[in-house]
Amino acid sequence: MMRILLVCLGNICRSPTAEAALHEALEEAGLSGRVEVDSAGTGDWHIGKPPDRRMTAAAAAAGLRLFGRARRIDRDDFQAADIILVMDRENLRDVRALAPSPEAREKVRLFREFDPDADGLEVPDPYLGGPEGFRQVVVIARAAARGLARHLQQQEQLA
Ligand code: 4NP
Repeated sequence: MMRILLVCLGNICRSPTAEAALHEALEEAGLSGRVEVDSAGTGDWHIGKPPDRRMTAAAAAAGLRLFGRARRIDRDDFQAADIILVMDRENLRDVRALAPSPEAREKVRLFREFDPDADGLEVPDPYLGGPEGFRQVVVIARAAARGLARHLQQQEQLA
């Protein structure tokens, strides 16, 4: 079983959306049973809370159901995950700084790297902006999730 951890700042907007989008993409790719997906945040403000209402509404409007409760990434996550995908460069810096070893540090990458058509490598933080930012997170997360699922499919074929 491969394990993927998705990480943003609060674990209430981008990473829960990325998690739901990745479940959807893995299902479409026929890989649901092969990959375990989880999410976490680098910050501690929202621990225990469900996804942000505005994010949940934007996702639902696009047919994506968010779930889970916010938690903070910890050292055990670096052991458990095969790959840790972050939403922006601040997350990249913060998560790499927490990595307990050079091997763990190498597991950390930007989620959008897997979208061949991405017009940027970050999933912009929607928290302080308007509804358009939340809608964008859904579109961006789905594209990156589909790219990642295709990448995993190709790996499976080579294995
Ligand atoms: P997320 O969004 O990192 O996508 O979950 C945010 C959630 C909360 C905050 C910032 C970003 N905050 O500052 O509380």
